[in-house]
Amino acid sequence: MPSSPTAHSKSTARAKTAKARRTRRTGARDPLAITLLKKDHRQVESWFDEYEQLESEAEKRNLFDRIALALKVHTQIEEEIFYPEERGEVDDDLLDEAYVEHDGAKKLIAEIEAMQPSDEFYDAKVKVLGEYIKHHVREEEQPGGIFNQAKKGSEDLDDAGRRMEARKAELMSQMGARQTN
Ligand SMILES: [Fe+2]
Ligand SMILES: [Fe+2]
Repeated sequence: MPSSPTAHSKSTARAKTAKARRTRRTGARDPLAITLLKKDHRQVESWFDEYEQLESEAEKRNLFDRIALALKVHTQIEEEIFYPEERGEVDDDLLDEAYVEHDGAKKLIAEIEAMQPSDEFYDAKVKVLGEYIKHHVREEEQPGGIFNQAKKGSEDLDDAGRRMEARKAELMSQMGARQTN
């Protein structure tokens, strides 16, 4: 026997609530800008974990160079596109702190780049950079953080994501080429 219209709409409503709960948990419906940035975060976090397992100096240098390039490109697309467009949508304090944290990371990256893996404190500096980045990423992704506030705002984050993707590809080839020279 077909269900009454009331029962049907109730089950539809239930299904919708379950779906909303699921997407909130998995972030499956994140707009492109957020998906792109989160993907970068996961990539770099896994590289920092991988670094801890390395013994050879050549492998350490190689992986650090990849981390450094990824972080430079990521912070630049956030600073050129994402953060400025989110001014007014996201608390000023959060955005200001994010810029300052990027600057701190850039200084530490430059210090490590000027060193050799055999130098004293090389591993320690990479470790501290990793912890610093993990802290920064948490500030961006946590409830009430930058990404969360951005998603509640009125900017088109799919459009921003497309522009960020294009800019990322451009910077990867520019900076990647410079790095191998
Ligand atoms: Fe980020
Ligand atoms: Fe950031």
